[in-house]
Amino acid sequence: MSLRDKPTGVKAPDMSVNQQQEIIDGLTRENASISPKYFYDTRGSELFEAITRVPEYYPTRTELAVMQTHSRAIAQSVGPGTTLIEFGAGNCAKARALCRLIDPVRFVGIDISADYLQDAIKSMRSEFPGIELRAVAADLSHGFELPADIPRAKRLVFYPGSSIGNFDPEHARELLERMRSLIDGDGALLIGIDLPKDVAALEAAYDDAAGVTAAFNLNVLAHVNLLIGSNFISCQWLHRSFFNASESRIEMHLEAVTDVLVCWPGGERSFAAGERIHTENSYKYPLDKFITLLSLAGFAKTQTWTDEHHWFAVIRACA
Ligand code: AVJ
Repeated sequence: MSLRDKPTGVKAPDMSVNQQQEIIDGLTRENASISPKYFYDTRGSELFEAITRVPEYYPTRTELAVMQTHSRAIAQSVGPGTTLIEFGAGNCAKARALCRLIDPVRFVGIDISADYLQDAIKSMRSEFPGIELRAVAADLSHGFELPADIPRAKRLVFYPGSSIGNFDPEHARELLERMRSLIDGDGALLIGIDLPKDVAALEAAYDDAAGVTAAFNLNVLAHVNLLIGSNFISCQWLHRSFFNASESRIEMHLEAVTDVLVCWPGGERSFAAGERIHTENSYKYPLDKFITLLSLAGFAKTQTWTDEHHWFAVIRACA
């Protein structure tokens, strides 16, 4: 059995140069934006974990309830002996629960937050001595390759939490196509998607009373400061979030409280008071639209499990 400590699959220097350029491009565009993937430094990953525990944030616990309620059907449809590959594995809490349920031969966790992932994988070892555990650091928004020694047989790609909602429909389809290309006829995708619902419930989930989501949104500025050497001051910015009904997505923004000049080596950007940086979209796909997207990406067959209020769906899809 091979247990690896070092995340593989990425060349760190290249990744950071590309990331710097990507961040600067986003900041200097007329409608400034920062990709939500930059939320996840170690502090951001911790804050996201805290979000999953606030009462307003229903997705994590609803998905868990769906998977618990339908655990026998899910385990039966998946079968034992898979290579479980999780995209955006984070703290691996969901992978742990799934490993108990489906007894895979190996688990490959992929995440952009390399150190955080590595710690999570390490802490799985004592509970799962019989499962080969691997950490792969990668940015899902770009093409990446799995280490060549990960067998292709019986792969189960796991993408829970409605993380696919961070991508607009076109990029979501591309990501699904890439997941499809990782599996053969004996493999499948298990994916969680957040469904459209009452706007008040949606908006509360992205603006909790304790301010954890606000802290999570603002933390991206500290991470950007580290990555490009900028001088954002977080108390000059406000957390804003709302449901954009015509696009069926929650949007998160940071809004300048006063006029702000942000500088970094080689560039700067001024923001007028009230001007915003778009930091996240979280699409809420109606089930039928998402199943169409799956079929466009090469997943012809699907099985869906949901909760009684139809707030969240877990879908097993295969060719
Ligand atoms: C991790 C992308 C699924 O969109 O609900 C939570 C991130 N942002 N609160 C989501 C998030 C604000 C989350 N995903």
